[in-house]
This record gives sequence, structure tokens and C-alpha cells, in this order.
Amino acid sequence: MFFRPTVEADLDLVLSCSIDEPVSWADPERYRSMLDNGGYRPAHTWIAQDADGRLLARAVWWAFPESDRPLALDCVWVAPEVPDRIALAARLLGAAHEAFRAAGWDELPEWHLFLAPGWRDDPAALAALEWRIEAAGRSGLKGRLERLRYEWTPELPVPEPSGRLVFRTEPDDEAFVEVFQRVAEGSLDDDTRRNLARLGADGEARETLAGYLRMPGERAWWLLAYTPEGGPAGFALPSANQGGPVVGYLGVVPELRGRGYADELLGEITRFHAARGAERIGADTDRDNRPMAACFDRAGYRNFGVRLVLTETAG
Ligand SMILES: CC(C)(COP(=O)(O)OP(=O)(O)OC[C@H]1O[C@@H](n2cnc3c(N)ncnc32)[C@H](O)[C@@H]1OP(=O)(O)O)[C@@H](O)C(=O)NCCC(=O)NCCS
Repeated sequence: MFFRPTVEADLDLVLSCSIDEPVSWADPERYRSMLDNGGYRPAHTWIAQDADGRLLARAVWWAFPESDRPLALDCVWVAPEVPDRIALAARLLGAAHEAFRAAGWDELPEWHLFLAPGWRDDPAALAALEWRIEAAGRSGLKGRLERLRYEWTPELPVPEPSGRLVFRTEPDDEAFVEVFQRVAEGSLDDDTRRNLARLGADGEARETLAGYLRMPGERAWWLLAYTPEGGPAGFALPSANQGGPVVGYLGVVPELRGRGYADELLGEITRFHAARGAERIGADTDRDNRPMAACFDRAGYRNFGVRLVLTETAG
């Protein structure tokens, strides 16, 4: 048995597998288009082969096009004839994880599994997840987080501005670092909490800044929010990813929470994208971030799916 990252010449072999399980999957069309835009690379696609070169398993990681660091595991396939799928998948992921650590990446990439909202009641989805979650755990991804996926499309409402908050652009990145730091306090977002524990308040805020600067959305779209009296209330960061416009990030400073300001911030972001002709606005939030999920529900955003995230550290 061999475990290795692929090279360009392996493309036909890499594309020679398919699944019929109700879980996200890099089919040949998706794989090729992600290869073209730099999200997927041969070096971030690992395979297991038997002594005759037959493909037994495949794992595909995604990265920002300009970075060498694999950021998220997108899909894992194991040939149906393999007797112990869990063991083989765990060994394949383990081999790749070892290489990522040797390359100096301090945290293992998360595994993102995209599911339908009713996955808990779907035996086929549960079966597809069961062996993958077990293999992930054995290879070092023991944490689990459920993110709700939302979308806005043009037939949904666009709220009128209420005037309860005033929005201003702000060219100084340090102003955003400061407000990101304030908003991280008491956040129910798992990523924010883990990054706070790992990097401290200033480090977390700067990593957040760097992450949003890397996204295809424009920096000039970012807004600071103030009360009509001029006090800082939070921020609204409409953004975009490779799939198009996204809500991005919004937050209310701790002392002003519980006044419904989240609705104003989301409303501003929805207005911003809608005015530019967006056909769709995507958004994600943790299931456990109840105030944020309730805000999307109130705004009429549709919960069309779930992203199950398997992580190295539990939140
Ligand atoms: C999520 C967030 C924007 C909600 O803002 P908000 O304006 O306070 O939201 P609401 O006014 O609708 O709050 C609804 C309820 O949740 C409570 N609540 C809001 N945020 C809370 C938090 N972080 N922790 C505990 N309870 C919270 C409010 O007090 C209110 O309770 P009540 O109904 O008993 O009065 C805010 O908590 C925040 O900035 N969090 C950190 C950043 C974040 O998570 N952003 C979203 C990432 S996708």
C-alpha cells in the first residue's frame, strides 16, 4: 500500500472515482474547475494505491490560490471493495497530516462536509458520515462543529434603513483591529473562541483582519457602525468568496448586545449586495451562535444546508 500526494500526470487516476452518498464530493467537473482556479492542486490531493497501482482512496484539500497552505479537506473517497474503509481513510489522512506538520503548518486543516438540513433524519447521510467521522478522529480531527448555511436571493426582502445605526467606511485597518477585538469578547462563534485561546485578543483580531483581506470582496466595502450619538456599535463587512457575494462578518460591541442591532448590520449588508445586483448572498453561522442564526431567520435568509466541520481542537 502506498500513500502519496499526486502529481499532474495522475489526473485521470484522480478523476476515476465517484460516490453515490449524500455528502459533498469533488466530482470531475468541480475538481477540474478548482484545479483551474488554484483552489485544488495535485500536491494537495492525496491517494492510496495498492501494489498494482490501483486507486484505493482519495482525499482532496482546498487552499487559497495564493497560499501553499491546505486550508480545508473537501472530500474523502474509499473504494467500495476495501474491507475496512475507516482504517484506510485514517491512514491516508494520517500520512497527509504528517506531511503538513513536517511542512510547518501548526494546525491541521479542517474537514468540511456539506449536508442537507435534514441530515439527522437521513439514514444514508448518517451512514456516509459515520465512517468518515471515525476516520477523521483517528487521524487527529476530533472536534466537531455544525455550521448553518444560509442564502438570500432576490425574491427575498431587502429591509429599509431604520436610522438606528449610522455606517461609515474606514480606511485605517487598525480601527477594524480594535473593533474586532471588542466584538470577540463573549462571542459564541467557535472559530473566534478557539483563535482567542490560541492567539490572544490582539492576535485573534489581526488574524481575522488578514483572513478578510485575503477574500475576493473589496476592502472598501467594510463599514463601521455607530449609534446616532456617535458611539461605536460594531461593524458590517460585506464580502465575497470564490462563489460570489457573502455576508462576511458582522458584530456588535458587548455593551450594546440585546438591542437588535445585529438586524441593522445584516440589513445593511443585504442592502449593499442587493443594490449591486447580487443574485445570491451566501452566509454561514455556527448552530450554537443562536442570536446570529435567529437574526438570519428573522431577515428571511433561507437555511439551505449544513456544513459539518471536523477540527483538530474542540471548541
Ligand atoms: C451575534 C451578535 C451579532 C448578536 O448581536 P445582538 O445585536 O446582540 O443580537 P440581538 O439583539 O438579536 O440578541 C438576541 C438575544 O441574544 C443575546 N445575545 C446576543 N449576543 C450574545 C452573546 N454573544 N452571548 C450571549 N447572549 C447573546 C442578547 O442579549 C439577546 O438576548 P435577549 O433576547 O434575552 O435580550 C453578537 O453577539 C456578536 O457581535 N457576537 C460576536 C460576533 C459574531 O458572532 N458574529 C457573527 C459571526 S457569523
